[in-house]
Amino acid sequence: MKRHPGLVPLSHDHRQMLFVAQMLKRGPTRYPDVPTTATAKAAYARRFAAAALLPHMALEETLLFPLASGLAAETDTLMKNLIEEHRQLEALLAELETTAELETTLDQLGVLLEQHVRSEERQLFQQLQGLLPDATLAALGPRWREALPPLCLPTEA
Ligand SMILES: [Fe+2]
Ligand SMILES: [Fe+2]
Repeated sequence: MKRHPGLVPLSHDHRQMLFVAQMLKRGPTRYPDVPTTATAKAAYARRFAAAALLPHMALEETLLFPLASGLAAETDTLMKNLIEEHRQLEALLAELETTAELETTLDQLGVLLEQHVRSEERQLFQQLQGLLPDATLAALGPRWREALPPLCLPTEA
């Protein structure tokens, strides 16, 4: 199904998040000029969370999910799981400060972030396009961008 234009700003932010997820995970990165040591990755993750991930998740919970709440049991269950994953992502970010296994925590954060974004793109957005009126979806994009400018990834390592 083609992505509704009202969801395009969210998908743009998700693409940036997939880039970060790939970088945080273990193993070689496809991208040049990104942090490669665990300490540098953790510093990047902290800045990314504050500038982008935490505001994005908060806006999903206050603006996006309420639009679809109560319309379909399948979607309600999915959104409940997605909110639970938001809490897990926050817990992993907190764990960066205390863990003795920094590479493992970074890898878990990258894996969960990628899986979470793909669930939203492949399942939630498909369901929302079937459930929400066209006008609601069309209004969402500008409301999202008004509340949250395009994600600008912190670049310094
Ligand atoms: Fe999310
Ligand atoms: Fe998201």
